[in-house]
Amino acid sequence: MPQSLAFLRREAARKGVGLNAEAILGALPAATVVVDESTTIRYANAAAEQLFQASASILTGGNLADIVPPNGPLSALVEQSRAADAPMSAHGVILDTPKTGIRTMSVHVAPMVDSPGWLVISLQEQTRALKIGQQLEHRSAARSMTAMASMLAHEVKNPLSGIRGAAQLLGQGAGEEDRKLTQLICDEADRIVALVNRIEVFSDDRPLERGPVNIHVVLERVRRLAENGFAKSVKFVERYDPSLPSVDGNQDQLVQVFLNLIKNAAEAVSGKEGGEVVLSTAYRPGVRISVNSSSERIHLPLVVTVQDNGSGIPEDLRPYLFDPFVTTKPKGSGLGLALVAKIISDHGGIVEFESERARTAFRIMLPVARD
Ligand SMILES: Nc1ncnc2c1ncn2[C@@H]1O[C@H](COP(=O)(O)OP(=O)(O)OP(=O)(O)O)[C@@H](O)[C@H]1O
Ligand SMILES: [Mg+2]
Repeated sequence: MPQSLAFLRREAARKGVGLNAEAILGALPAATVVVDESTTIRYANAAAEQLFQASASILTGGNLADIVPPNGPLSALVEQSRAADAPMSAHGVILDTPKTGIRTMSVHVAPMVDSPGWLVISLQEQTRALKIGQQLEHRSAARSMTAMASMLAHEVKNPLSGIRGAAQLLGQGAGEEDRKLTQLICDEADRIVALVNRIEVFSDDRPLERGPVNIHVVLERVRRLAENGFAKSVKFVERYDPSLPSVDGNQDQLVQVFLNLIKNAAEAVSGKEGGEVVLSTAYRPGVRISVNSSSERIHLPLVVTVQDNGSGIPEDLRPYLFDPFVTTKPKGSGLGLALVAKIISDHGGIVEFESERARTAFRIMLPVARD
């Protein structure tokens, strides 16, 4: 048993509380194994037994290489963490073994403080948010949107501008009452064009024009827009890491991303006593994802979080959250988060969310500018 477990037990016994570290580890949903300096498995929790389809007594004493491919991305991450003596995380790690089948996992590897050379490895099947992001990356989900967007542009926008023009002409010669009606036609036509324009963004698959972007400038601009517009009564809290390097991105599109996220957060807390939106930035050197294969790995150390204390995301909405036209708002289009997912995936980044009572957080992970 790892020393830290023994330690926890001793501490629990000393304090007279019924704390059983193994019971706690057993209840965790993440498959957790502990390996020693020669990657021999010293501990495996219940979730690990389930993932690798073997009992803890069979797993312990064996080598990590027996259960995961020794040249695969997971073993590479373990070696990296060992070499750097630092925690490492990777998202989008494909685990493909006879026992586990093919799964996409988030993996965290951390050295054990009180046992030099020992590592704690925890694996969790990846969140739905990330999978949708990847789908968009592969353009499969976006394809139907793309086709629809170009259809709408041709079949709806052009005739609409004709209708609008005709209504305007009619309005010039009309009386007071009729002019109200022609104005109504113009306003509604404008609304449809605005909606089509939002959808059209999805069909834009030109390569992104990228450069170094200071994410704090982006957040500052969005916050000012919000405070003077849709979020007048919302309290903003900023927790910025001032030493954050520049993002490799497109400033206008990133403004759009955070505008959408902050608008959702503001809408979630609107009318709520003590409602606040927390914007934070951080540098997490450990976050890497592998794209498709084990060979190419993108480093995504910049983490921007938009958190609110609103009512949370309804459970039944979560699996579809990033799909277009998913909305619970009477006047919502349900395009805000779909656009966030598209832009972030164009940047090679990741978007994730967590939502529990009175705390909803959207986390964006982005690459650093090359220079
Ligand atoms: N911070 C949040 N808190 C609670 N629910 C949220 C939050 N963000 C998004 N949602 C839920 O996800 C749905 C989809 O969000 P999305 O931004 O895609 O569309 P929308 O906000 O409904 O419409 P639009 O953004 O086009 O105005 C929302 O209707 C809401 O139910
Ligand atoms: Mg929205």
